[in-house]
Amino acid sequence: MNKFAAKAASALCTLGLGLVLAGSIHAATDRDAIIERIKPHGNICLQGDETCGTAAAAAAPAAATAGRTGESIYTRSCAACHGSGVLGAPKFGDGQLSALKNEKGMETLLANAINGINAMPARGTCADCSDEEIEATVEYMLAND
Ligand code: HEC
Repeated sequence: MNKFAAKAASALCTLGLGLVLAGSIHAATDRDAIIERIKPHGNICLQGDETCGTAAAAAAPAAATAGRTGESIYTRSCAACHGSGVLGAPKFGDGQLSALKNEKGMETLLANAINGINAMPARGTCADCSDEEIEATVEYMLAND
């Protein structure tokens, strides 16, 4: 191999390595973007679970039962799933819940909200919600559906 050919080969190698490196950096960026895209929208913190709540959340239940409305219960206990339709939950505000009500009737809807159905937890994780409060919450969701 003459000197020129050797230089050219080495230049090609450097270029090739550069491309491989650039390629893998690109791949890493894509992977990060995918992880970012598929990560869960929110964290579900079950009542009584000390590991995920903040001090404020832990202190909340004492005062929480007084003066709760369908809206405040929805925001606290239901929005985590129904806000974005996590796990196939009927998404708030897009008519799915109203369609279910027309299909099954309010009684069934309420019974399922209270007892749970498939991935829908009993009382939507609001363990200290009364039946009336769950009803008020479902009515709030339907009124804004
Ligand atoms: C952990 C996620 C999660 C939380 C929190 C949650 N839901 Fe649900 N909910 C679901 C899922 C999933 C479904 C769909 C269940 C199915 O039909 O398979 C559902 C369905 C429902 C339905 C329709 C039931 C039916 O008969 O089809 C009602 C009503 C409802 N939820 C009310 C509530 C209320 C009220 C709260 C808060 C107090 C709540 N949910 C909190 C996940 C959740």
